[in-house]
This record gives sequence, C-alpha cells and structure tokens, in this order.
Amino acid sequence: MALPWWRRGAIYQIYPRSFADADGDGIGDLRGIAAHLDHLEALGVEAVWLSPFYRSPMKDFGYDVADYTDVDPVFGTLADFDALVAEAHARGIRVIVDVVPNHSSDQHPWFVESRASRGNPKRDWYVWRDGREGGTEPPNGWRSAFPAVERAWSYNEATEQWWLHSFLPEQPDLNWDNPEVEAAIHDVLRFWLDRGVDGFRIDVTQKIAKDPAMRDDVPGEPARSEDWQPTIHERLRRLRAVADAYEGERILVGEVYLLDLERVVAYVNGGDELHLAHNFVFLQLDWDAAAFRASIDRWDELSSEAAWPAWFLSNHDHPRVASRFDEGTGLGEARARAVLLMLYALRGTPFVFQGEELGLPDAEIPDDRIVDVDGRDPERAPIPWAPPSDAGPGAGFTTGEPWLPITAEAERLNVAAQEADPASTLHLTRALARLRAAEPALQDGAQRTYDAGPDVLAWTRGDAFIALVNFAAESRPATLPGGGEVALSSDPKREVGPVGDTITLAPGEGLVLRRSC
Ligand code: GLC
Repeated sequence: MALPWWRRGAIYQIYPRSFADADGDGIGDLRGIAAHLDHLEALGVEAVWLSPFYRSPMKDFGYDVADYTDVDPVFGTLADFDALVAEAHARGIRVIVDVVPNHSSDQHPWFVESRASRGNPKRDWYVWRDGREGGTEPPNGWRSAFPAVERAWSYNEATEQWWLHSFLPEQPDLNWDNPEVEAAIHDVLRFWLDRGVDGFRIDVTQKIAKDPAMRDDVPGEPARSEDWQPTIHERLRRLRAVADAYEGERILVGEVYLLDLERVVAYVNGGDELHLAHNFVFLQLDWDAAAFRASIDRWDELSSEAAWPAWFLSNHDHPRVASRFDEGTGLGEARARAVLLMLYALRGTPFVFQGEELGLPDAEIPDDRIVDVDGRDPERAPIPWAPPSDAGPGAGFTTGEPWLPITAEAERLNVAAQEADPASTLHLTRALARLRAAEPALQDGAQRTYDAGPDVLAWTRGDAFIALVNFAAESRPATLPGGGEVALSSDPKREVGPVGDTITLAPGEGLVLRRSC
C-alpha cells in the first residue's frame, strides 16, 4: 500500500508574519507566501502548515482569533487564501491551517456577547465562575501558560464573575463542556475543509478537556486544566470524524504540550484521533546522544502499529536550534545541519520551521523592539531572502520596516546567497528531501538505534541505511555494522565514498550511509 502523503516527506511551518511581505507594510502576508512557492517546491516539502492568519487583534500575533473564518487584512483576503491553496496544490504542496479551539480573542463576537450579562445565551460558551472569599479571590489556583500573566483568571466588574484564560486575559478559554462550542468548532473545520485545506494543526490540543469541577492541581499529579481523561479522547475522535468525512487524507496534527511521552502517544495510538502529535519531550532534550537515543526508543516502545511519530526541534515558540545547541562551542550551525539530517532520517514525519533550512540562529531583539509577552521574538524574526547589501535593510523580506529586526547574519544566511553556494544548509536540506523521496527505506523502513560509541547517536533504517550524529564538540569514532558508502553528510568537508567498519565523525557531523549488502 502506498504510504500516506503525510508520512512521506517534510511538513514545513510558515509563520506568515515573518515569511515574506508582498505589500511593503513590514508584515508578511499570504501573497508573500504565494510569491515564494518556488522555494517550497525546491525544498520538496509535502505540505506547509500556516500559523494563524485569521482576523485578530494580534495580542498573541494571531493565536487570539476574532473571526475563525476570515483572513485578517494585514495578511490579505479570503481570495488570496484560495489563490494560495490553488497554486500550492498545482505544485503538489498541501496546505495545513492552524486551528485554535481552546480560546478565542476577547474581541470575538462570541465573547463580546458572553461577557455582556450572566443571562446572555453565549454566557456558557466561555468559562465563568464566582470567585472565592466572597468573590475577591480567583475561583482556583490555575496559572496562565505565560509566566508574565501569572493567574489564569481575570475579573469582570460588570457581571461580578471571573473568566478563565490559559494564556493572555485577551484569550478567554472556550467552554468545551458545552456541546454548542464543540459543534461551532467543528463548523470552523468544515469551513476550511470546504475551501480545500489538507488538514489542521490544532493549537494546545491537550487543553480542550479540563476537569469539569475545576479543582486545584495536586503536586505530583497531572495538571487538571488539561488532558482530562477520557473526555479528551472522545473529543478528539469526534474532531477526527469531521476530517474523515472529506475526500483525500485530511490530517490532524496536534500540538500536544504534555511532557510525558505516555500521555502524548495516547493521542495517536488508537488511529482514530490525531494523525500526528508534536512531541515536546523530544524538543526539550539536552544536546546529548544518550538522551536522544533513550527518547527515540521510548517513543517506539510506547507506540502502537497505528502510531507514527512527528519529529521537530524548532517552532515559533522556542529558541532556534542553531542558537540553543551552540552552547558556546561555535558549532551551532553545524549542529543545526545535523539536526536536519536527523529529522529527515528518523522514521516519522519531519517538521521544518521556516528558516531552519537556512540554519538561521535567533535574532537579537533590542529591548525597545520586544513585542511578545513570552520572549519569543528572536525565533520569529523575518526570513532574509536576499543580502541586505543588494536588497536593502529589509533583506528581500520587505521593502518597508520589518515588524521585528532581521538577523544580523542576513548578509550570509539569506536564501539567494545559499542558493548560489552548493555547500549551504539550503542545498543540504534539498538533498535530504531528495534522498528521502528516492528511498522508501528512509520513509517507512524499520528503525533500530544501536551503540556506535560515546556521544554518537546511531540508528539503522531497514537493511539499507545507517544514520549517525556526533553530539560531541570534538571528532568521534563510530562503529558500523558492516561497511558502506557515504550517501550524505551534513559536513560539507566530508568526502563521499566507501567506508569500512568504523568512521570518524567531525564535530557536529551527521551522516547517512548506504550499507553494502
Ligand atoms: C500555542 C502556540 C503559541 C500560542 C499559544 C496560545 O502554544 O503555538 O504561539 O501563544 O498556543 O494560543
């Protein structure tokens, strides 16, 4: 049976504000994305996932949605969206959109009504509670996911009740215990499915089922504001049924922000909930070969036949790999290249965050340019498409003033310069995509990790391939089960050719070997 499309190759995350600006206002937009489909096609991505582009007051840069079924004017129009989908599909690139079911913006008409009075028909669409201590204290001790926000409740003077917000006060949590809310979100999915989208990335999936009694957390036990059993799984099965009612394979990718693999795997093991779950246990690992091996093995042990992993180490909420794994060694860029190799050579779907294919580091954000409440501006800096010396300070991202500073390394790490350099990270990423596309064993071949020596993560794919990553800051020898030849290295200095039963890996090097049989 042919492998489903979402298992074959990479899914590429676009953060629309920072990808490409077509109208010169300094903020990326849908027409900017459409203008760069050549780049995505050359990367060989199976699909793009677009972070939110819906109408929004942008308190959380689009994750505060004021209208789930319209495009914010800053990003364009529904016609621009339809054109983007049509043009992407014409090139064989599928389109996944972000859906934010846990909360809306406080400017959403649903919340405007809900807040108006206790008797409003939409009152129960959000989570309203009386306070404790005669109303002066929040209903319970739940905290916002943004440390700067502190408590997850705010008080509405007019109706003398508190509303729940797992993020900003301007992002009130919807009440998923109300079947009308669930039905309304199903309709949102259908709206975009009818427009031809190929799936959804579901924001904070674990939060759409909470303890209905809203009890305080107990230290050492799972948080009660999320992952409420078995409700979460029932709700996911109903979301899946919405997608499955459509032709073709429309997929659900969950942001499942639970730092417990057993609970993450439960979202995909049944085969009738999410297709893919982002694994944040993996994202939070230290740069340590043994830790990576243990985590990869643990996923395999826990997962069922139906489950399929999604590998990622970078998104719009976390420092970029090239910065995070540098650790003062100067090897950040080499390690970012090795990470790309790892993502493509592991059994599972690689997720590539825009700019990862360039090896971008985090940008420096001066204090007076900080815009995010949670310190996430550095990884959200715009993509440099061309050297500032040619294209001006907007680096081909914009002709205007970019909404966030562009990385200081734009002169070297832009798309045009890397296009011209066969040793660049951009060419490495394309080569990885081509190799995976040409080799079924790198798509769904069996995977086994093995001990190749200290600081080396090593695994086999089917009988045909071995992959190795050197986590040390120095060279390391790696043992190989039999010889082979180098298929691809993340180190541009590596010579391609035959190898025996050991190989010395350069600092930060990742390697795919074709085994001689
Ligand atoms: C998710 C998003 C993040 C957002 C949060 C609230 O974690 O990835 O960017 O701030 O949800 O919607």
